[in-house]
Amino acid sequence: MAGVSELNRRAFSGIQPTADSLHLGNYLGALKQWVELQSSFQCVYSVVDLHALTVGPDPAALRQRVRATAAQFLAAGVDPERSILFIQSQVPEHAMLTWLLNCITGFGEAGRMTQFKDKSARLGEKGVTVGLFDYPVLMAADILLYDAHVVPVGEDQRQHLELSRDLAERLNARYGEGTAVVPEAYIVKSTAKIYDLQDPTAKMSKTGHPSGIIELLDEPKVIAKRIKAAVTDSGMEITWDPENKPGIANLLSIYSALTGKSPQQLVQEYEGKMYGHLKVDLADVAVEALRPFREKTALFLADPSQLDAILDQGAARASEIARQVYGRVAQRFGVSVPR
Ligand code: TYM
Repeated sequence: MAGVSELNRRAFSGIQPTADSLHLGNYLGALKQWVELQSSFQCVYSVVDLHALTVGPDPAALRQRVRATAAQFLAAGVDPERSILFIQSQVPEHAMLTWLLNCITGFGEAGRMTQFKDKSARLGEKGVTVGLFDYPVLMAADILLYDAHVVPVGEDQRQHLELSRDLAERLNARYGEGTAVVPEAYIVKSTAKIYDLQDPTAKMSKTGHPSGIIELLDEPKVIAKRIKAAVTDSGMEITWDPENKPGIANLLSIYSALTGKSPQQLVQEYEGKMYGHLKVDLADVAVEALRPFREKTALFLADPSQLDAILDQGAARASEIARQVYGRVAQRFGVSVPR
């Protein structure tokens, strides 16, 4: 863990407002680390609504999900006194820096992003937009705009982070050292990839089958039901064997992340017990862990003027940094900087 001296270093991360509720993968893979990093970094966290446009959302639903996502950041423990919490589209420099980065990104380089390849294979040529192709460059702009040193994300974002690093290094090589800070991914191995409860070889995802995911705002009954119905593996013994027992390993990872007990410790506790015991206990643990989260989210959503004030203040603080960093980069490119 970083020392106090790191407080003048920045962390940046974002989550897309593409669902009414975040899921357990978002929480354990990213949001939990966001909260922890607040004691050691100056943190900047964003609801990345421009990214969400790549899936063509209904405007009213998008607006509502932006607020719901911000409320969930707060409910998880993002502290607006210490950290900057803002909506991406309120800071125009994100789009402006994206253009500069577009002009130093190779077409082939962007085309190699596996998330783009997967999504475009699913959508077919007619469904793929330039925005979807450019998505990782906008993500690099998000990060570089705040001179971020660390970026807490799940495993699925690693390749995008590599692109951000490559672009930062390219900026420094072409336009002089100090043009950009080269960011590092902050990925916690044990929760970097939470798997689908119905298909423990696929990551838990907003686009997966509903019964495979735990939404953080789900009713306790639903959470318990989904965990109890999780697919487990052949055999009866509870062991830590991610390769041969991916279903049990996924449940143990979730259990471990929610309680702080190591998977090995849990295996000892459940020696001689059946899969069903583990599921019943984990259902209780998850329900109790998520109950305050759900209640706090509802409180933040019930007070729109407080939420607006937090987001406005966040946008103002984010803009101050973004304007300065964009100005520095734009000047080096030789383009003018808005007054
Ligand atoms: P998004 O909105 O898809 O996901 C938000 C965060 O949740 C993590 N995550 C997972 N972690 C573990 N297991 C899972 N099953 C799982 N599913 C999702 C993601 O890795 C992510 O950290 N491109 C980003 C959003 C973004 C961003 C940024 C992130 C835009 N600009 C700048 C960091 C910095 C994304 O699509 O996340």
